Amino acid sequence: MHTSETEKIFTEIYRSNAWLDLESKSGPGSTIFRTRLLRPRLTELVRNLGIHSLLDVPCGDFNWMRLTDLPSVEYIGADIVPELVSSNARLHARGDRRFVQLDMIHDPLPKADLIFCRDGIVHFSYSDIALALQGMRQSGSTYLLTTTFTAHGRNDDINTGDWRPLNLDIAPFSFPPPLLTLADGPRPDGTYPDKVLALYRIADLPDVTRALTSSSLEATSGPSLD
Ligand SMILES: C[S@@+](CC[C@H](N)C(=O)[O-])C[C@H]1O[C@@H](n2cnc3c(N)ncnc32)[C@H](O)[C@@H]1O
Repeated sequence: MHTSETEKIFTEIYRSNAWLDLESKSGPGSTIFRTRLLRPRLTELVRNLGIHSLLDVPCGDFNWMRLTDLPSVEYIGADIVPELVSSNARLHARGDRRFVQLDMIHDPLPKADLIFCRDGIVHFSYSDIALALQGMRQSGSTYLLTTTFTAHGRNDDINTGDWRPLNLDIAPFSFPPPLLTLADGPRPDGTYPDKVLALYRIADLPDVTRALTSSSLEATSGPSLD
């Protein structure tokens, strides 16, 4: 079977532990300590919204999510790295929890009440983010809870596999104000205090495909002119 460039990049990151964390191969943001405040807040959000199905994409190594209480929720964890997904399935699958290998840029996504996308699209190029957002919309899922940096002043394009903070409030995204946010920062060194998970109704999101794939992608800031 054909292995995509994206799968090769993230499989190499996983195998070499390129994000250099001793506890989680999904990086220093995925430790138990760094998610200690987020976990109960996520439980509360799931309960308050009446979420019965949750697609965690990308799920990474499930290091912290395994400690998150998700009562009465059918959980699907999805990631592009095949050996990570089979390890998660072997260690953590059960009746209401399964893991699937998929590429959220190119593959259809299962429908869920909530798509949870933490530290995901921040690793993608603009054109790959456009495809990932289209896939979320096409899945027919209801809500998206995803990473954004609310004080970040300027968005930039990158190659998929790298990382940069994204502010979804400003161009080229110009998402509407989120329904709510859950704090997900700062890092232990005090950086990125503005990192949050923002909740959107997927049907309310603008189609940003054109804005993300047009030619003027070197840097974008401020509100969209569209
Ligand atoms: C920084 S980790 C975050 C994992 C998890 N959300 C967390 O909070 O611990 C990023 C993950 O994205 C996965 N990934 C990268 N590109 C992907 C894609 N196109 N489809 C699905 N997963 C992808 C990587 O394999 C990696 O496990």
